[in-house]
Amino acid sequence: MRKITANLYMTLDGRGEFPTYPGSNIPSGTPDEPDEFFRKMWTDRFSDVTTVVMGRRSFTGHRRVHSLKGRKPTDPKFMFDYSRFLDKAEKVCLSHRLKKLDWENSRVLKGDLAKIMTKLKREKGGNIIIEGGPRLIHEVLRLNLADDYWFLVMPVVFGRGPRYWTPMKTQTNLKLLSASHMPYGELVLHYEAVREKTVSKSK
Ligand SMILES: NC(=O)c1ccc[n+]([C@@H]2O[C@H](COP(=O)([O-])OP(=O)(O)OC[C@H]3O[C@@H](n4cnc5c(N)ncnc54)[C@H](OP(=O)(O)O)[C@@H]3O)[C@@H](O)[C@H]2O)c1
Repeated sequence: MRKITANLYMTLDGRGEFPTYPGSNIPSGTPDEPDEFFRKMWTDRFSDVTTVVMGRRSFTGHRRVHSLKGRKPTDPKFMFDYSRFLDKAEKVCLSHRLKKLDWENSRVLKGDLAKIMTKLKREKGGNIIIEGGPRLIHEVLRLNLADDYWFLVMPVVFGRGPRYWTPMKTQTNLKLLSASHMPYGELVLHYEAVREKTVSKSK
């Protein structure tokens, strides 16, 4: 069965932004080799992934910045490798609005997210990554649709921008698999989904 992994990129106050902070502008790795941070969050995890699912806004943002067409000549080689991976992967854009997508190997799906993820899981292929944005990830967590979650938490209380966390009616439990921190204070947290129901303690 294909594994579904969700990626979350957020500030300490749960905002889906990429602010600058001390160290954030320092190029990651050498021109040829990504640093540990980039490897942990991206390159180490892509060899078995064939499908990337994104909300409409994230899809258009990724196409603009991370497709091979969007790369700048000065970008490091490993960013080109990342773009090659993304261009080749099957991309699912969730949208009611978009009908045509100007990015190879892409298709639009819409509707009930749980049904969409079940359908994708049954299709042939490697593993699946859900790559944001915050609104989509919130729904994935609310419905407990992913098998595991990678959080990248940046050391900033930003105070504005899209929120990952808005009210939910029920709690979602996750089991911590690994936690590490990067040289400039970013946390990389890997959790797996806990699917059994919480048993409330009797008084
Ligand atoms: N990608 C990331 O990892 C990431 C991380 C941090 C921050 N951000 C930032 O967050 C912002 C995006 O915010 P967001 O959370 O609103 O964007 P998003 O999740 O990428 O896109 C939201 C849109 O996805 C579509 N959608 C979601 N579920 C759907 C479903 N089941 N069926 C049909 N369409 C569905 C809807 O598009 P329609 O309106 O077309 O129906 C909805 O408006 C951007 O500014 C981005 O830079 C992104």
